[in-house]
Amino acid sequence: MSFDKIFDSLTLPNGVKLSNRLMMAPMCDDSANQGKVTAQQLSYMKSRATNVGIAVTGYAYVNDHGIQVEGQLSASQDSDIDGLSKLAKAIKSSGAKAILQLSHAGRESGISAKNGKMIYGPSKMVFPWLDYEVQEMSLKDIENLMEDFKLATRRAIKAGFDGVEIHNCNHDLLQQFFSEYSNHREDEWGGSLTKRMRLPLTVLRAVKDEISYFSDENFILGWRISPEEIHGENIGYLVGDMLEQTRHAIEIGIDYLNVSLSGGLNYDLDSKPQGYEKSFAELFKELTDDNCLLYIGAHVHQPEDIMKVINETDGVYIGRALLLDANFTKKIREDRTDEIIASISREQLTQLGLPDRLVKNYLQPDQYQKGIPLPGL
Ligand SMILES: Cc1cc2nc3c(=O)[nH]c(=O)nc-3n(C[C@H](O)[C@H](O)[C@H](O)COP(=O)(O)O)c2cc1C
Repeated sequence: MSFDKIFDSLTLPNGVKLSNRLMMAPMCDDSANQGKVTAQQLSYMKSRATNVGIAVTGYAYVNDHGIQVEGQLSASQDSDIDGLSKLAKAIKSSGAKAILQLSHAGRESGISAKNGKMIYGPSKMVFPWLDYEVQEMSLKDIENLMEDFKLATRRAIKAGFDGVEIHNCNHDLLQQFFSEYSNHREDEWGGSLTKRMRLPLTVLRAVKDEISYFSDENFILGWRISPEEIHGENIGYLVGDMLEQTRHAIEIGIDYLNVSLSGGLNYDLDSKPQGYEKSFAELFKELTDDNCLLYIGAHVHQPEDIMKVINETDGVYIGRALLLDANFTKKIREDRTDEIIASISREQLTQLGLPDRLVKNYLQPDQYQKGIPLPGL
């Protein structure tokens, strides 16, 4: 099978060219020091961003009420810009477009809770898996959140990133507002579908305006979504609602849509929403079509998996395959696919050039091994 199509260049709606169809998936490496970029992150990101068109960082929090995990990146202060500049430079030196992912974890902000910060979400609620209280965001908190996303975007621009991606997925605060499970507000920020999508779309518009004001049309705006949210009997939202939200996001003007098929979901390219004849990929491709690029991935470990995805999308994101093998994409390009590391032992894990804290967390059974396991571990 020829894999040439993987290395076709792509053009974003803003005219920016990407060298190929591959995206390094956003992956938090748990290795920032109090939010600041570390040397290990620089070498790790540089090694993995080689031979991909676009590389997205792990999620960076926009304020100190929104920190989910130890070692997460910060884009919440001007003093972060120096380290972020080094990170952007490291990624760009490997030839990829450097994208900073921006997030607020809302109710999932366990580290902020540990730091004694007030934890908020759309509504005051008790969640069985959390050992702290979640308060309802006030209108002032919402106003501050918009400002924090704008300031974080400005920091990404100053740091020399090629773009930002908004983390509107994987149970983050923006998704919590969209979800009927967690949003019980009766004001203009909750209730009907239009009101539930107001917060994520207002953040998107604020970031878009900030980009127009402080950068030029070359700055890339990405939007990551989870297509559904289902907690057993409790439905946060189904794909029909997310298709509607995405239509609006496209109208506001995104350069690419990144559909997360993990993060509480365990879907792959062929997964179809209940009651639909079409797969998630087909449904979102109909929307993005000529309007913006579509990236989907999940469980992509071999070039054949990539080919399957890009037959239905524009691009593919690659997560764990790049953790296992820094030369994954190089080996495909050089037709050495039989050398790809597809599975590893616990001993090998320490020799892959991954940041120490990420390795340590992978070796703990209750951490990533449970949620997003590495093959072989
Ligand atoms: C260690 C690790 C950290 C992750 N951190 C993030 C993150 O910061 N933001 C995000 O949107 N997704 C995150 N993800 C999800 C990945 O982007 C991706 O969707 C997932 O790993 C499935 O793709 P894969 O099968 O190619 O690994 C993370 C995944 C892993 C393995």
